[in-house]
Amino acid sequence: MTPPSDRERIEALRRELHEADLRYYVLDDPVLSDAEYDARYRELAALEARHPELFDPLSPTQRVSGAVAEAFAPVEHTTPLLSLANAMDREELVAFDRRLEEILGPGPRGYVVEPKIDGLSVALRYEGGRFALGATRGDGRVGEDVTANLKTVRDLPLVLRGDVPGALELRGEVYMDWKRFRALNREREAEGEPLFMNPRNAAAGGLRQLDSRIAAQRRLRLFVYEVRAGAEIPRQADVLRQLAAWGLPVARPWSAVEDIEAAIRAVQELGERRDTLAYPIDGAVVKLDDLARSRAAGFTAKAPRAQIAFKFPAEEARTRLEAIEVSVGRTGAVTPTAVVDPVRLAGTRVSRASLHNADFIAERDIRVGDVVRIRKAGEVIPEVVGPVKELRTGQELPFVFPDRCPVCQTPLVRAPGEAAHRCPNPDCPAKRLEGLLHFVSRGAMDMNGFGPAVLGALVASGRVNDPADLFTLTQQELETLPRIGEKSARNLLASLAAARTRPVERLLFGLGIRYVGERVASALMAATGSLAALAEADEARLASIPDVGPQIAASVNAWFQDPGNRRLVERLAAAGLATERQQAPRPASLPLSGERIAITGTLPVPRAEAARRLSAAGAVVEERVGAHTTLLLAGEGGGRKRQEAAERGVRVVGWPELEARMGAGAPEP
Ligand code: IVH
Repeated sequence: MTPPSDRERIEALRRELHEADLRYYVLDDPVLSDAEYDARYRELAALEARHPELFDPLSPTQRVSGAVAEAFAPVEHTTPLLSLANAMDREELVAFDRRLEEILGPGPRGYVVEPKIDGLSVALRYEGGRFALGATRGDGRVGEDVTANLKTVRDLPLVLRGDVPGALELRGEVYMDWKRFRALNREREAEGEPLFMNPRNAAAGGLRQLDSRIAAQRRLRLFVYEVRAGAEIPRQADVLRQLAAWGLPVARPWSAVEDIEAAIRAVQELGERRDTLAYPIDGAVVKLDDLARSRAAGFTAKAPRAQIAFKFPAEEARTRLEAIEVSVGRTGAVTPTAVVDPVRLAGTRVSRASLHNADFIAERDIRVGDVVRIRKAGEVIPEVVGPVKELRTGQELPFVFPDRCPVCQTPLVRAPGEAAHRCPNPDCPAKRLEGLLHFVSRGAMDMNGFGPAVLGALVASGRVNDPADLFTLTQQELETLPRIGEKSARNLLASLAAARTRPVERLLFGLGIRYVGERVASALMAATGSLAALAEADEARLASIPDVGPQIAASVNAWFQDPGNRRLVERLAAAGLATERQQAPRPASLPLSGERIAITGTLPVPRAEAARRLSAAGAVVEERVGAHTTLLLAGEGGGRKRQEAAERGVRVVGWPELEARMGAGAPEP
């Protein structure tokens, strides 16, 4: 058999990968294993590299473009993108139905009830079944061209399936699912970056990125719910079916019902299922199913008369406030937390809720013993909204915010303009412990075995006050700790040895300087090269470093002004930790120092051996492709890590290249 020509093979692979994306992301019914997907993706990328004349901007390999835009081009919508009127209760839905009867006359009024996705409205244009343009809603008349960012949305089909009209205009919602939202906020917390309040804000930020590689990292998703032009489909239920048949993602569950009473029931059911959905919704949309009559009903200045949004009330619960706990964080911030009688809220059992700060408690007059309303705010930890004053018995106790640190009794201070009270005592054991926990955390020095129990005991005994003290611990001393035997002590020493090989960026992050997250630490080290040089840099120099603003510059400068902090850095250097940036390949440093390598596929050597040799050569071997991964080592087959690497702009290398970098003289463990 003659092999198919490259052109045919490219076309077949593109078709197969488009289909695989659809099955995986839209239908949740994968047809290819990760390894199979990966093999085809690589084959296609290799063929495309050989045939630039066959370039296609809609190839599955082109979801993320390398180019960074200057600004978004304005897009005038062919017809305005309207909004919806809101209904807050059952009566307003009944009134909506009555109005339609007055306008359209008597007759059956069937409705479609859809989830109201809490994201951003987008207009999409397909030409000849191929994705041609995507725009934000903007002011409804003119939006912004976000085509490049929308291409990174995995469930947006680049090419539609089946019989597709020549030109098709659609409307849908870009959103972030709960899983991604929570993971993103965890990443941001580790980086010391502000958290997103809700998935909608996170999605909005992603859609408006000028660099589509950053947009790709947000892993935005899409639901489509309207055909604006290009196809005459008489009923909304059939619109949703047709959209799905073209391979577009349609939010489930939706229902077609025969009258407003049934629609109200469907809205209620959706409200009850809200917590079980993978995506955020803030209500339900009720649409007249008959689209010709829907158009006939006309429009108000901003919304169609035959469609209405029912907004769900924010999810709240009531419970008793049993106590207010006050804890001291790494920076000395003293924060109050409500301990409440456990209650179910949005699908989880809640026993603690945020009280923010002293002002919040005072302004809302929250008292211990109150029945309080709690709600999910940023969805991570619930917050107290306020007391239910009608239910007071007179037994409630006003809360007096402590004026001394609950741990070391030092009088608290409050900087002008700051909400938080802080413990100013640099030797406060609570701050020390929190600081050490940060130092050993995964994003910093990643020191296995040093958990709260071990560190708590070391701090309590007075043996360890700061990170440098850790590196003076002996096997014998470690063995005296509760529940630490000879073997655990040896592991702790190994963990200390491993910490000595961590790149200086991670050490700097681990020091816990205010506003210095992982990314800023990397930027500071890239610019100055060593902790000694960083200590000498003045504020102006610091503020001139990319990603470093005046607030960060002032904080870093102040930290290094403190003689105790300077001594700490000297002691860490004396303990053998890297305090200079290691630039491979310098003879003094290891050949892979500074690299953080994830592995995928089958390598020519066993994976465990590869991992050992990479670590011995100075690399950090990572479980997955993360924000700080520098290389993806890929062998035969492999998984979606390759795609993630492409999305994050991480270079993919083969084993032979790394072996060459490690060199013949690379230390064999
Ligand atoms: S229909 C003429 N259906 O809600 C308006 N909108 O509050 C057509 N939304 O701007 C919109 N889910 O961004 C429709 N299933 C759904 C929706 C939905 C979310 C958004 C949309 C609209 C906003 C109005």
